[in-house]
Amino acid sequence: MSFPLNFNFFLVCTVLLAAPGLAAAQTAASAQDLTRATEMNLDVKLMFPSPVPDRIILNLTAEPENSVAVNWRTDTTVQQGIVEVALATDGTQFIQQLRKITATTEYLRTRHEQEPAVSAHYHSAVIDGLTPGNVYVYRVGFGNGWSEWFQYRMPESTRGRPLSFLYFGDAQNDVKSHWSRVIREAYKKMPEVDFMLHAGDLINRHDHDIEWGEWFQAGSFIHATVPSVMTPGNHEYRNVKLSPHWRPQYNLPLNGPKGLEETCYQVNYHDLKVVSLDAEQIDETPYYAQKQAQWLDSILTHDARRWTVLTIHYPFYSTKPNRDNLELRNRFKPILDKHKVDIVLQGHDHAYGRGMVSNSPSGQNRRAQLSGTMYVVSVSGPKMYNLSEDPWMFRKAGNSQMFQIITIQDNQLLYNAYTAKGELYDSFILRKQKGEANTLVNKTPNTPEKR
Ligand SMILES: [Fe+2]
Ligand SMILES: [Fe+2]
Repeated sequence: MSFPLNFNFFLVCTVLLAAPGLAAAQTAASAQDLTRATEMNLDVKLMFPSPVPDRIILNLTAEPENSVAVNWRTDTTVQQGIVEVALATDGTQFIQQLRKITATTEYLRTRHEQEPAVSAHYHSAVIDGLTPGNVYVYRVGFGNGWSEWFQYRMPESTRGRPLSFLYFGDAQNDVKSHWSRVIREAYKKMPEVDFMLHAGDLINRHDHDIEWGEWFQAGSFIHATVPSVMTPGNHEYRNVKLSPHWRPQYNLPLNGPKGLEETCYQVNYHDLKVVSLDAEQIDETPYYAQKQAQWLDSILTHDARRWTVLTIHYPFYSTKPNRDNLELRNRFKPILDKHKVDIVLQGHDHAYGRGMVSNSPSGQNRRAQLSGTMYVVSVSGPKMYNLSEDPWMFRKAGNSQMFQIITIQDNQLLYNAYTAKGELYDSFILRKQKGEANTLVNKTPNTPEKR
């Protein structure tokens, strides 16, 4: 039987790289699956795992000062996962001083509609005992199948130095084709950020393996080099069921309400607290809405940090005409106000808008004075919705893929929003004053307020 070139290449790799003695039938993708996927014009290399690790990603741990989490995928012939880590050296001398960490391994089989099922082993580990400021190298794998060596610079202790991160709204659609340039441009602009934050709808269909493959390919080595945190959007859910990929492929904190592991959680990075709320469970499940509200109020009461960044997929204030998340606002805004949450990073509306807001008695969302919580909606992928004329937005943009670089140092937060081609479109500073709401200094470039 003759197969397209990419199919042959994949098959040869699969067989050659499998551990000796393992039958071809034990590889993750059967010949029938490969044939069927090829007939459906699916990219089999993106979809099916091999014995060589792919989809390698770092995640922030709950306390990231001395550790980082790493996850990856292999086919099911690979029964174990190992992380090898060492202090980086200028040559390959580090190979003499490797520390080995055994991962936990879990099996996942998913099937999207009529496409062939994809079976994989997902491996997950925490690299701990790291010293701030040191440069490390690590690789993941087992037996004959290993990744390249990735270099990871453990951030200096955050005290007294700027801490910065990238923020991406919905990637979601045509991720390989159209989101790749955004994450790559962001990385090019700020390669030494401490982490990346994804505000939900990373992909479009929650169980569609190849879309997750596109997301990993778009970020490529960046995912394995800069740790991420992500909050799920409605597209990571269907019928209130979380994407089967979410928990196996990420390693996010487990410190939120029971039942919302890795979707509602906090990361404490010295003076910065990053909180992810599970928007879909707020919207769909009153029990989890209440649990998240109680939990948020509790952590901000008992373990407050100087800065609080909240990420949630559904916006408190919408950029889209005729959309309004009133219930979300009624339940959570009093908590945000009470604790003076600094900035809320959101997605879902597929446009860009930001502002500080005060509700007028008529219920209209008025632009606030220059103080309070800053609300941001953003989109990094290509799908776009119309922009509303609601006056809450101080700055807004339609039809623009955006990314943001946010830098926090001492009592100041600097926010810069860039378009996909790397142009600065929006900028402001939040200044913290003891016990008071933040003051806002707009630094918007001299371009129209709406585009
Ligand atoms: Fe969404
Ligand atoms: Fe979306």
